Amino acid sequence: METKYLIVDNVVNNNDSYTQAVDFLNNSEIVAFPTETVYGLGAVATDEVAVQKIFAAKGRPSDNPLIVHISSKEQAQDYVVHISEIAQKCMDAFWPGPLTLILETKPNVFAASVTAGLTTVGLRMPDHPVALRLLQEINKPLAAPSANKSGKPSPTRAEHVAEDMTNIISCILDGGATGVGLESTVLDVTVNPPVILRPGGVTKEMLEEIIGTVIQPTEKEQESPGTPKAPGMKYTHYAPEAPVLLIEPKLESVQQAVEQLQATGQRVALLAAESFANSKANYFFTYGKDGDVEAMSSALYDALRACDKTDATIILATTTARLGVGVAIMNRLEKAAGGQWYKK
Ligand code: TXA
Ligand code: MG
Repeated sequence: METKYLIVDNVVNNNDSYTQAVDFLNNSEIVAFPTETVYGLGAVATDEVAVQKIFAAKGRPSDNPLIVHISSKEQAQDYVVHISEIAQKCMDAFWPGPLTLILETKPNVFAASVTAGLTTVGLRMPDHPVALRLLQEINKPLAAPSANKSGKPSPTRAEHVAEDMTNIISCILDGGATGVGLESTVLDVTVNPPVILRPGGVTKEMLEEIIGTVIQPTEKEQESPGTPKAPGMKYTHYAPEAPVLLIEPKLESVQQAVEQLQATGQRVALLAAESFANSKANYFFTYGKDGDVEAMSSALYDALRACDKTDATIILATTTARLGVGVAIMNRLEKAAGGQWYKK
């Protein structure tokens, strides 16, 4: 299959690109598109044939349900049994935006594999002009997981999608780099108090300001049988090819670690803020300005992918405090590293 690569920005007349994308979707094909978090791999959520193609393209286990994207808050009513006061407050405060709400789905409104046999569905209204226009023009809900191969970091640029999906999907809409850079916060509002199944750009603190107590299980608590889970969180994710080791962002200890690893014959890629640029690492990929967690979240996956283009044998990734968006960043870093920290 040849993949159509269509650049959609505000400069050129792009009506024709959206028409082509909508035609592909209506013909049970899949189209990758940008959202404010990461690129999504979209199929019409009511079309079982199309949704199956998503699982095949990603190599995704069939027990891992997909997020459904909609273009307005009102549409949620068409697909879910009940919208609680808490759910409504979340939509009003954070939609469009990087928050996925887990709700009880009406039976038989989506293709069966979208929900992977669960009675709930993850719904979200993305905050990106390309995603919203595509949703409005097709006027159907779109199931869309992140547009990477399973096990690869999520794509934050159309080029990343092309690396993983060229000749596998019908079309890529290139709307430039995404903003947030990490996948949406997944919040289970079928339970009270609501539980964060996956931390993201909408933080626990932001949620609590609107709806009161929210549970955010620690990594340990997530493993206990009683804790609500996102099926996807049990899979190893986001890992580049070379092993990743986490390290505190202290100039001196990072420099020592680089030298010690190089002394044992390793070629080191360092992921860190700008002030680490003069370290002696073989490769350096920046998270942006020191202390800027938004920049770090936006740069992280691009940096992890960039490591795969080098001959580095080990990746040292500096960490951040588990505060605000730092919780989501550390969740992804811990996964990329398989929980491994640098030890002297
Ligand atoms: O930012 C995002 O959420 C991106 C963009 C494209 O919207 N999408 C995304 O989708 O990250 P995906 O499929 O890569 O991750 C969806 C996560 C998985 O961990 C999945 O298990 C969980 O949400 N999930 C989906 N439906 C669920 C449900 N009904 N109950 C619990 N978890 C669910
Ligand atoms: Mg994903």
